[in-house]
Amino acid sequence: MEILTEERIALKLKEILSKAERHVYICSAWIRGDTLKDLLNDLKDNVRLEVVIRSSSFEDMNTTDPHFFSLITRKGGDIFISKRLHAKFVIVDSKFAVVGSANITRSGLEKGGNFETVVYTEDIQEISALEKTFELIKEESYKLSDAVALVIDSITSRTGRVILLKELDEHSYVKIPISKGNFLLCRIFDIRSFNPAFGTESISEGGFLKRVFTEKEESWKAAALFAKMAECYEVKEAKVEVLGEYEESKDLFKTPFTPLKAGSPVETLKEEENLKAVLLKNHSGYPMRLPVPVGKLQGTNAEAFLDMEKVISMHMAVVGATGSGKTTFVKKILKELKEPVKVYVFDLYGEYYEDLKRNRNVRKVSIPNVLFPLDSEDMKRIIREGGLILSERSTEEKTVISLFKRYLRPDLNRTVFNTKSFEDILKEAVLLVKDSSLGDLLLETLESLKNSFGKEALRNQSKVVRMLKESLNFKEGIVIYDFKETDIAETSINIAGLLLKEILKISKRDASDKLVVLEEAHNFVPERGTGDIPAGRENLAYISAKRIAMEGRKLKLGIVAITQRPAGISKFVFSQLNTRIVFKLISRNDLEAVSPFFEVSREDIFNLLPFLKPGTAYVSGIAVPFSFLFYMEEITSR
Ligand SMILES: Nc1ncnc2c1ncn2[C@@H]1O[C@H](COP(=O)(O)OP(=O)(O)OP(=O)(O)O)[C@@H](O)[C@H]1O
Ligand SMILES: [Mg+2]
Repeated sequence: MEILTEERIALKLKEILSKAERHVYICSAWIRGDTLKDLLNDLKDNVRLEVVIRSSSFEDMNTTDPHFFSLITRKGGDIFISKRLHAKFVIVDSKFAVVGSANITRSGLEKGGNFETVVYTEDIQEISALEKTFELIKEESYKLSDAVALVIDSITSRTGRVILLKELDEHSYVKIPISKGNFLLCRIFDIRSFNPAFGTESISEGGFLKRVFTEKEESWKAAALFAKMAECYEVKEAKVEVLGEYEESKDLFKTPFTPLKAGSPVETLKEEENLKAVLLKNHSGYPMRLPVPVGKLQGTNAEAFLDMEKVISMHMAVVGATGSGKTTFVKKILKELKEPVKVYVFDLYGEYYEDLKRNRNVRKVSIPNVLFPLDSEDMKRIIREGGLILSERSTEEKTVISLFKRYLRPDLNRTVFNTKSFEDILKEAVLLVKDSSLGDLLLETLESLKNSFGKEALRNQSKVVRMLKESLNFKEGIVIYDFKETDIAETSINIAGLLLKEILKISKRDASDKLVVLEEAHNFVPERGTGDIPAGRENLAYISAKRIAMEGRKLKLGIVAITQRPAGISKFVFSQLNTRIVFKLISRNDLEAVSPFFEVSREDIFNLLPFLKPGTAYVSGIAVPFSFLFYMEEITSR
């Protein structure tokens, strides 16, 4: 041990620092860059530098100058700030230490400065104790490089204002540490940049602006404004929204109850460490049971997931304008859905099979163009298209209609089409009324329908029924009902209705996970009064889908309803779809239909909807830990 004073302090420090091989720990309440630079002249590269300084009032930063910070940053060191630090010591490689009264400042170390005394020691035990003290000080200090912003104040319990310390993009994800390993997950939005130097005083006094804007010479005016702006500096303020609280020891993503505190540092998220854990939770905060990747969290490289278990139990809506990426998205999740979930896809345009067959064991059922009335009302509508309006005025008409009523049942096992074709039924009707003019009219109608829809469309019914029944026993994980060939809208809806009814029955017997994908869902479950498709009683697809939406949770049968027209889908069914994927939307009606899914703090995202690129969407609801924007990466296998 040696006691040192005057110039010998700096000399000793230089000497031990030049000997450093592994690490240097410095505590000094105040540090001047120049003074430290002299000491570190002979410091070898790759020596780890950790420095704690005091930061309890702005005064401290008048002494500890910017040069010090750039010096440490250049050397790859870490700076910690402490509110209570007053100690001054330097430890080198756990071998040499200097402890005393001198700060690393001019008055602390340079000739003619303060009277200082320090102790130099090589006592391993003492140095080890000093290192422990260093650790304790560090623990209570803040590591500066982590901070990207500071909380100024809170606006509501879940939003606040921050001042930015580094460049951040709109919609960045950040964290506010609460305690070791625990943090508030937050989102930055509404970034505002302003120039305090071009502040209110120059405007209110009128001096500067008056001088500039009363000048007639335009170019001088411009030059003067540029000159004023050159004096200005930019400050960025933003809003921060708390999305949830992560508790590391329980691996839980909780409702945030910790209030935002003014002065709290805001830090960048570590994608691997922080985001991964949270993105694999569902809305309950617990780990997802059936996670499927959907794309990347907007503004990050982190994979985002959906918990398909929650989709199966509580359904999902996928909405967006045409070409926004809905079908691409649903195909992607079906490819990723690895568990033995049985999927039935109602594919109106034949877009699924080719893509899915590469990854999954799929079976396609091609529905031919066929007339498929489910009841006498459907039948009357079709006959009207063939040119004959049937009412129940005459006895003959009553006879014919009662035949239709007897034969046509909205049930796959009870419909007459199990054994007879559309043509057969019409011919039977003709026989019943053969001596009347109605018989001739019916025959004419039959010919006219053959011309309009093709002979097969009137004869194929039993084949279709057989096909549908068989498809319900397929062993493949995904069954695709391809309606590409069907250009009779009512047929698609009726067949979907029959199938949905059967799928519901199957689910009651067999409790394994099942999923129904309904493309163009507004056709199957329309809101009353929109379009020309009947809602309510007559529409079997509507009745069945509604029942699935209500009972699906118990049956483990989920619906994924895809639509370009969220405003056109039954509000009742829509409200049961507890996970929502919203792609680009333009029309005001449709924007209004999805607006309830955007909380007040999400106004910025809602306003972004018309501008979203294909493949970018907003997800909210119970299958995700918090609502977020995500983007699908370009899908090449198209
Ligand atoms: N990252 C992306 N992910 C998905 N699709 C993308 C992406 N980038 C561009 N696209 C384009 O967007 C289109 C999305 O088409 P998709 O059929 O999925 O839309 P849709 O919403 O189902 O439309 P529609 O309502 O007409 O059925 C793709 O054909 C593709 O060309
Ligand atoms: Mg589509």
